[in-house]
Amino acid sequence: MSVFVVSKSPALSGSVKISGAKNSVLPILAGCILTEEECIISSVPPLNDVMVMIDILKKLGATVNYDVKKEKISVCCKDIVSFEEESEDAGKLRASFIVMGALIGRIGKAKIPMPGGCPIGSRPVDLHLKGFQSMGVSIEQEKGFVFADGSSICGGKVYLDFPSVGATENIMLASALLEDTTVIENASAEPEICDLAKFLSKMGVKIQGAGTDTIKIQGAKKLSGVKHKVMPDRIEAGTFMVASAITGGDIILENVIAEHLKPVTAKLCESNVCVEDLGGNKIRVFVKDKLKPVNIKTMPFPGFPTDMQAQFMSLLAVISGTSTITETIFENRFIHAGEMVRMGADIRIDSRSAVIEGVEKLTGAEVRATDLRGGAGLILLGLVSEGETRISDIYNIERGYYNIEEKLKGLGALIERVD
Ligand code: EPZ
Repeated sequence: MSVFVVSKSPALSGSVKISGAKNSVLPILAGCILTEEECIISSVPPLNDVMVMIDILKKLGATVNYDVKKEKISVCCKDIVSFEEESEDAGKLRASFIVMGALIGRIGKAKIPMPGGCPIGSRPVDLHLKGFQSMGVSIEQEKGFVFADGSSICGGKVYLDFPSVGATENIMLASALLEDTTVIENASAEPEICDLAKFLSKMGVKIQGAGTDTIKIQGAKKLSGVKHKVMPDRIEAGTFMVASAITGGDIILENVIAEHLKPVTAKLCESNVCVEDLGGNKIRVFVKDKLKPVNIKTMPFPGFPTDMQAQFMSLLAVISGTSTITETIFENRFIHAGEMVRMGADIRIDSRSAVIEGVEKLTGAEVRATDLRGGAGLILLGLVSEGETRISDIYNIERGYYNIEEKLKGLGALIERVD
């Protein structure tokens, strides 16, 4: 098993190119099921999660050609031969559940394994199922599978009790081939929803309100294949912004959308980090003054993203003073704190709140990447800890970060992958 060995590093400097967004690629790949024509998706990093989704599409009968070097995928779902996903797929990739909406739309039925929970929470899918049911889809659950019969699916009004990203995506996908109109209320407004809406609109779906809490979808009987460039990954970008801040560095990020980074930029600026929009999808992140503690509350977009919580905890662990983090999205998303405390961080957790006292000195330790973003947080902490930090279970990190060690090395970080 490989580990990352991270050592105390100099202030990061230089520029880094941000990859396409994992949480946008996955629903868009599922969306290819909606058409018999070829879709060409570009700016697709070869992440573990992307490879699993490609495998799922192939097992459903899709023809997929992935030019890894060019980060470009051709997907043709002319011959979808199955409406069933295999049980181990859900274990490998929770997001495989969004194939359900596309299969209901394309074939009129789907048999999908219930996705398990994960370290950050139980991750239920009740809102997805309730949404399908309010469109006339009948849902049965047995032996760990969900069977959906969408033979009498119709448009209508879907109210989401919580602005769930996945549920919003699933309903959009299930509505895309319906000629009547579906309205999603209390929808997720995350940027990834807008990217999926852009992709579906190119296919011929009429969508209004993506990026707001009410999305109106009018599908079409037949959708065409499209070319689509995936939006930049705002969470990877945020992670590198924090990498610059925590090391007192000065870096330029290329291929970013500043609008998507607003909540992260606001919190970094509040703690005295300088963020400059250079135009041309570039931003500069640098430190010139002493950083200040801040309080964070994770919220649906445009609030502070839960996917940046662990990375920010690393930064606050070394800013003198008291900071707090309230995690409102997932019920168990502080699991990385225990690993950080082993490196000398002063973090006290009480249910969904964390109190962080900045410390002068951290020491490297043998730690585990408990989950994708927690693992990224440990890398950041390793950059400013005395001695070596050895991070195991790095496959968790590589689910969502392509070539993270090379990108960090390019900025002067001392990080090695050791097999
Ligand atoms: C997406 O997960 C992202 N994953 C997550 O990113 C991200 O943290 C999350 O949205 C929130 O922004 C992908 O896009 C592949 P939700 P998703 O449905 O869709 C509860 C990462 O690090 N809920 O918005 O699963 C749920 O338990 C990952 O890249 C229900 O109760 O998130 C959670 O508490 C981690 N019932 C909250 O809503 C449901 O039916 C938010 O979940 C669905 C969700």
